Amino acid sequence: MNPLELSRRSSASFYHLTDVSLEGCACQGLACFAARADNPQRWQQARANSPAVYCLGQCHHAPAAFADDADVAIGVHSSATVLLGNLVQGGARDIDTYRERGGGKAMRLALATYPGKVIAELEASGLRGRGGAGFPASTKWRAVASASAPQKYLVVNADEGDPGSFSDRLLLENDPFRLIEACVIAAHATGASHGIIYLRKEYPAARSVLENAMAQAREAGWLGQGVLGSTLDFDLGIHIGQGSYVCGEETSLLNSLEGRRPEVRLRPPQITEHGLHGQPTLVNNVETLCSVPWIIENGGERYAAIGIGKSRGTKLLSLNSLFNRPGLYEVDFGISLRDIVEKIGGGLRRGQLKGVMIGGPLAGLLPPALLDTALGYEELQTIGAAVGHGGVIAFADDTAIAEIVAEVFRFGSQESCGKCTPCHLGSPELASSFSAVLAGEKMSASRWHDLIDALEATSLCGHGRGLAEFSRAIERHYPEELAQCFA
Ligand SMILES: Cc1cc2nc3c(=O)[nH]c(=O)nc-3n(C[C@H](O)[C@H](O)[C@H](O)COP(=O)(O)O)c2cc1C
Ligand code: SF4
Repeated sequence: MNPLELSRRSSASFYHLTDVSLEGCACQGLACFAARADNPQRWQQARANSPAVYCLGQCHHAPAAFADDADVAIGVHSSATVLLGNLVQGGARDIDTYRERGGGKAMRLALATYPGKVIAELEASGLRGRGGAGFPASTKWRAVASASAPQKYLVVNADEGDPGSFSDRLLLENDPFRLIEACVIAAHATGASHGIIYLRKEYPAARSVLENAMAQAREAGWLGQGVLGSTLDFDLGIHIGQGSYVCGEETSLLNSLEGRRPEVRLRPPQITEHGLHGQPTLVNNVETLCSVPWIIENGGERYAAIGIGKSRGTKLLSLNSLFNRPGLYEVDFGISLRDIVEKIGGGLRRGQLKGVMIGGPLAGLLPPALLDTALGYEELQTIGAAVGHGGVIAFADDTAIAEIVAEVFRFGSQESCGKCTPCHLGSPELASSFSAVLAGEKMSASRWHDLIDALEATSLCGHGRGLAEFSRAIERHYPEELAQCFA
């Protein structure tokens, strides 16, 4: 076999879904696990899937199967409608509808001003990345804008791998022009001439909506040479992922785009200086970008007037199917978790609340006693949790802590990129130890502590570190139940 073919096979072997059809697949994501009692047959089907499929983005009617396409509730509970305006009106999949509702104004305003002014507005807004890390958006935009290079890239992270989140899927499927408009604004501000949307394979409907929208945008002069008669040359393409959670991590994602084996990269250099193909690259999440047109149109200060502490503006929350009112909701930062669970979600459909997992499996599990905490990056961090991407999975009291730990580490081990030993070997060991606990065995407490300490101290990326943070939250909030798992 020639070296090129060997290299192609080596990177392809990293993914779970290369050459795999999703037709007939059921989902093993955590929201589906939490709801397994509602459709045990479907859950069995998910367990039998090989390879395992983690998160089809249908957590509002879990346990879910591919292309279920169930109706989803959409609601605005925020003081300003930044993100869901078109979704509550049934979506805007053609450019005329988008324009009739005022779309495109922010892009014109941005193109009429200089890049520094656009970035200053973003800075005034206090917008932080919605992909999970919560990094200030303007800092990254400024870094790419001030880098000098022959080529700069914009990469839209539409990999939405956190089991429990479906907000990006619904934005992409229903409001694609908002994202395109945001990309044009980002390109103007940073000097990027080419943009790539990295979209997960599990979202084929989003792909066709986006492809159609991009064709309409080109026709209307929103993309291509001299966007809307300006000096900006900018176009967008789509890259389809092949099934790997860790490819949502931005450096792994860039390796994937370059056709390399998508392991996480060491930093520095930062990708704002040395990103895709070694060029300055801005990577932003779909929701982050979709907030930008409203900010440019209404001003950063108006956006910053919403929220709490260092968490400004609005946030999308995906509520899973154990709630009486599952769906996608826009809220202000600062809302209490209790209001999310009880007022927006309407409480649980069945059973008592065991805990709520906000921000995906790498964030903590919070007991009902902490529901008076406000939604905010620092506020949640203080109690060992995270905003993450805004998935909200409720667990009822039919699920034991040992089951949740086994499930999170099963996911963690399947998705480890294999670069760091505690993540690569420690997470499968923890998954099998907790499966054994469920079968009546006990685990060594000191082994648990050693593995979690190693994960915490040596993980290169947020995957291993997140697994450690999840474990710390279990130690902190469910000590008695965890102690019962130990010899
Ligand atoms: C294991 C892992 C998976 C991630 N998956 C995603 C993802 O699916 N989507 C996303 O936008 N960010 C994801 N991130 C965060 C990205 O690395 C990055 O911070 C983000 O795309 C930057 O955009 P933002 O600043 O707009 O949030 C992930 C991070 C880690 C560590
Ligand atoms: S922590 Fe895990 S996923 Fe992240 S780089 Fe290390 S092995 Fe890869």
